[in-house]
Amino acid sequence: MILNELKSHFRSPETPGSIFLSFEGIEGSGKTTQIKEIEKYVMERGYRTLTLREPGGTVFGEKLREAILESTEPLHPLAECHLFLASRAQLLKEKILPFLLVPKSVVILDRYIDSTLAYQGKARKLGYETILDLHKFNPLNLLPHRTYFLDISLETSMERQAARGSKKDYFESEKHEFYLHLIDGYREVATLFPERILKINANVKPDDLSANILKDLEQFL
Ligand code: TYD
Repeated sequence: MILNELKSHFRSPETPGSIFLSFEGIEGSGKTTQIKEIEKYVMERGYRTLTLREPGGTVFGEKLREAILESTEPLHPLAECHLFLASRAQLLKEKILPFLLVPKSVVILDRYIDSTLAYQGKARKLGYETILDLHKFNPLNLLPHRTYFLDISLETSMERQAARGSKKDYFESEKHEFYLHLIDGYREVATLFPERILKINANVKPDDLSANILKDLEQFL
């Protein structure tokens, strides 16, 4: 019930002709590849696109990104959470809201509020209510029209992370248990927002995954 009350504070953009999308999933879920495909597809259909990643996307946000991902000491979950929210509020003000006013535009976000729900709400144990409560106010209460949650298993994530082989950042060095909480968290969050979040099996080949996403996206174009 508390969740329903909190959900009532949220809204989707009411800017006819523009679309707000986000991609979510744990490390190795293939967000970057899929975002590139979607960008290409909507541009061919005459849309202007703006793709952004969180945290970051503004000068201030990139400083916060570094502060979090390169932190050498464990941050308090609330400190972590507020840094992500500060980056998000600035990104909304500087980039997302102005671009949504452009006719025939698509804003694509690589991570957004559902990352905070899964990572800080579930895995860092702050709770979904706390995270939603912190997003109650304008502009943080703006939700995408559609969120694609690319759902992969722990095994697929570990294999893909090992294949990349790059240096592990703050979250990538977490243990398996943390990732299991994240997977559970994302699946729970998808059930909290069933109209907005589409959970897609992403343990498949990238082409099959894009075909599924594009089939769904058609209704928004
Ligand atoms: P990034 O390198 O962008 O991750 P990826 O390539 O997997 O998308 O790093 C962002 C990290 O920050 C990622 O591990 C998820 C985490 N994160 C949160 O914990 N909470 C948030 O609200 C956001 C936006 C990201």
